[in-house]
Amino acid sequence: MTDKRLVDTARAMVAPNRGILAADESSGTIKKRFDSIGVESTEETRRAYRDLLFTAPGVEDYISGVILYDETIRQSGLDGTPFPKLLESRGIIPGIKVDLGAKDLPFAPGETITEGLDGLRERLAEYAELGARFTKWRAVITIGPSIPSYACVSTNAHALARYAALSEEAGLVPIVEPEVLMDGDHTIDRCDEVTKFTLQQVFEQLYYQRVSLEGMCLKPNMVLSGKGAAEQAGVQEVAERSIACFRDVVPSAVPGIVFLSGGQSDEDATAHLNAMNQMGPHPWELSFSYGRALQAPALKAWKGDTAKVEAAKKAFAHRAKMNGLARTGSYKPDLEQQVA
Ligand code: 13P
Repeated sequence: MTDKRLVDTARAMVAPNRGILAADESSGTIKKRFDSIGVESTEETRRAYRDLLFTAPGVEDYISGVILYDETIRQSGLDGTPFPKLLESRGIIPGIKVDLGAKDLPFAPGETITEGLDGLRERLAEYAELGARFTKWRAVITIGPSIPSYACVSTNAHALARYAALSEEAGLVPIVEPEVLMDGDHTIDRCDEVTKFTLQQVFEQLYYQRVSLEGMCLKPNMVLSGKGAAEQAGVQEVAERSIACFRDVVPSAVPGIVFLSGGQSDEDATAHLNAMNQMGPHPWELSFSYGRALQAPALKAWKGDTAKVEAAKKAFAHRAKMNGLARTGSYKPDLEQQVA
């Protein structure tokens, strides 16, 4: 029987009008983001930046949960409150990235397998102790002329299910993230085919490994044209193709689908989610778990300058609100002008 706490948390993560902020960039990834704005990545600058996001006024109306990184879950905000406590005090659920990254898959050029299963049970117990209530594991599937291989999809699906079972055992809701990358010049048809196959493999493994679907969230890519493809599908087509794909392979017991943004522009990520929700009702909540598409304007506004913290908070709150509106299909591009 499914643990009721898991179901309650999973439902709270996809509560109406709200979605998840992915702020779980690894040390390497956050360094890249900081490089892009000319800020040195140190423990203090990372802490100041995460504090800015987590204390932005009003975001609790649109943000249900935040995915933290190992360093961040152990840090405190500028007022001395540990980040998990600070988030809980605002009604935002703290979560944690638990995979250890995508590593080269042997005999599979250009493909990766996500690692981190060894010792995971013990790490999960510690994260629960530190205040996490959900977890995330990201698998990466690349589209190329002769990839993905079955080896890549099946090993990643197996690892995702191993992780999800351990997470549920620890009382933590797993966010199962099989990301089919948008990099490449492939068509939307090819993305559709690979996404469907990947999700089918993932749900097969979740079933074999006795993961409760009611106690998890799925974090997939949308069905999109490759970033470099000459022909780009429009908003309506992306929404229709994505919904059709998920209807085929995502069981209705899953409480919510929380999309990654994957390199889409901020406004595209919002418009696509909005169009999908306009086509509802759907068997699952359709929400967001964006990293770049929620943070990009805040990063740009901040640039490491304490005098710009308020402007950066506003920029983040605006994106959170736009995506909150997309949860009910009530976003309009005109609203982009109304940055508070
Ligand atoms: P993006 O929305 O930037 O793709 O990040 C989401 C995420 O958590 C990737 O694991």
